[in-house]
Amino acid sequence: MTNPISVEIKEIDLDALAGAEGKVAVLMTAEGSMDPLARRVNRLTKGALQRLSESKVFEDLGAGKVVSLAMPAGMKAEAVIVLKLEKNVDAKAARLAGAEIAKAKGLESLTLGAGSHRRAADLAYGVVLRSYSFETHMTGEGKGKQPADATMMVTKPDDMRAALEPMLAIADGVFFTRDLTNEPANILDTTEFAARLEGLEAMGVEVEVLEERELRELGMRTLLAVGQGSTTPSKVVVMRWNGGGEEPPFALVGKGVVFDTGGISLKPAAGMEDMTMDMGGAGVVSGVMKALAGRNAKANVVGIVGLVENMPDGDATRPGDVVRSMKGDTIEIINTDAEGRLVLADVLWYTQERFKPQGMINLATLTGAILIALGHENAGVFSNNNDLADAFLAAAAAEGEGAWRMPMGQAYDKLLKSRVADMANVGGRSAGSITAAQFLQRFVKDTTPWIHLDIAGVASTKTDTSFAPKGATGWGVRALDRLIHDNYEL
Ligand code: BES
Ligand code: MN
Ligand code: ZN
Repeated sequence: MTNPISVEIKEIDLDALAGAEGKVAVLMTAEGSMDPLARRVNRLTKGALQRLSESKVFEDLGAGKVVSLAMPAGMKAEAVIVLKLEKNVDAKAARLAGAEIAKAKGLESLTLGAGSHRRAADLAYGVVLRSYSFETHMTGEGKGKQPADATMMVTKPDDMRAALEPMLAIADGVFFTRDLTNEPANILDTTEFAARLEGLEAMGVEVEVLEERELRELGMRTLLAVGQGSTTPSKVVVMRWNGGGEEPPFALVGKGVVFDTGGISLKPAAGMEDMTMDMGGAGVVSGVMKALAGRNAKANVVGIVGLVENMPDGDATRPGDVVRSMKGDTIEIINTDAEGRLVLADVLWYTQERFKPQGMINLATLTGAILIALGHENAGVFSNNNDLADAFLAAAAAEGEGAWRMPMGQAYDKLLKSRVADMANVGGRSAGSITAAQFLQRFVKDTTPWIHLDIAGVASTKTDTSFAPKGATGWGVRALDRLIHDNYEL
C-alpha cells in the first residue's frame, strides 16, 4: 500500500530555515512581494530572491509555477524552491501550485513556508496528491524511492490542520485507487482485490463478498459468462458506508475486469499489458468508499464492484453464445472483448433491485472508442438525467477532473439489434462508446437517475498528469467525493 506523505504543520520558526534539510519552498507574488518566510530566505541567501524577482526568468515564469535555486549559500538546504503565487488564488490554482512544488521537491524532504496564505491547506493537498510513486515491485535500483515527508510553516497551524484533514482522507482514497489500478493481474486477482476491500472494514465500511455460487443463485449469468474462462473466481463485492440517515443510498458501480485479454475474441499482443488497468472503474469506486469513510461523510453510499477476469479457455464464452441476464433479457455475445458491459448489466440490475438507490453512477474502462473521441483529457459522461449529469459535471470541473457529456438516443440503441436474441453486445464500428452506453441503459430503470462514466482514457496515462506521475491517475475519486459532499450529505 502506498501511503500519502505526512505533512507536519508547525508555527512559523524563521530561525529554523537556515538549518532546514532537503528543500525549502517559499512564496513570492508576481510583483516580487515576500512574506516573512521568503524575506528570511532572501536575507540568508544575500538577496538571491530579490534578484530573482527582478529577473527575466521570474517575469517569464507562469503563475503557480516554481524556480529552483540549487545549493543556496547561507542555508543547509539543497535547494530553495520559489513559487510564484498571488494571495487571492482559488483552491484549484493553489492545488496545482502545490503539485508543482511536489515535482520540484522530488524525493527530498520539504519545508514549505506558506505563512498566512489563505490557501495553505490546498497547497499542501496538491503536494500530497502529486507525491505518489508506485514502487511495490521494485528491488535494487528502484527501491526506496518513496518521496520524503513535508513540513509546513503557517501562522495558524490549528486552522490549517482542520482544513487539511478531510483532504488527506480523500488523498488516501486516491492513492488506494492508484495502487489497485497499477497493480498487475497476477498480484491483484479477484481474490486479492476482494481481500483488499475487506480491509476497509477497519474504517467502518460494511463489506460483503458474493461468491460464484451466490452469483449463480442470483442469476448473474452475463457477469459469470465473462469470468468462466479464468481460474480466478468471479466475485461481486458490496461496500456500504452508512453515514447518513434513513434515506436510500447513492450507488457507485464499478467494472472490475482484473485483466482483459479479450477472451476468445482475443486482443492483439501489442499493448495488451495495459489491460491490467481494466479494473479501473472498480478501483475508483473503492477509492471513493475509502475517502468517504476516512472523512466520516454524512451520507449513505453503496459501492458495488464486479470482479472478473476475461480469459480464453476451453470453458470460455464463445462468440455467438446467447446468455440470459439477471434482468431476464437475452444477449447474443458477438464479441467476447465487449465484456465490461456484460459485467455491468448484471451488477447495475442487482444494485437497483436490492438498494433502490436515489441515484447511480457506474465507472468503467469500457471502450477504446472513448480514447479516440476524447483522448486522455476527459472521461465520457452518459446520462439519463440532466440534473444529475450537471451536478457531476460541476463537481468534476471544480476538481479539475476532465469530463465531457456525450449524446445518447434511440437511433444509437437500435444498432444493438440481434438476429437471435433480445440484443447483441456490440453495435458495430461507429459510435462505439455510445452504443456501449445504450447497452448499459437497457439495464437501468427509467426512474433511476444514472450516469455512466467511460474512463478508458483517463484511468491510466502514459505521461504525467497535473496530480499524478504516469500510470494510474485516480481520476474521479475527487469529483465523486465532491458530488456526494455537495449534494447528498446531511
Ligand atoms: N477494456 C476494453 C476497453 C479499453 C480499451 C480500455 C483501451 C482501456 C484502454 C474493453 O473491454 C474492450 O475491449 N472494448 C472493445 C469493445 C469492442 C469489442 C466493441 C473495444 O473498445 O475495442
Ligand atoms: Mn474487452
Ligand atoms: Zn475490458
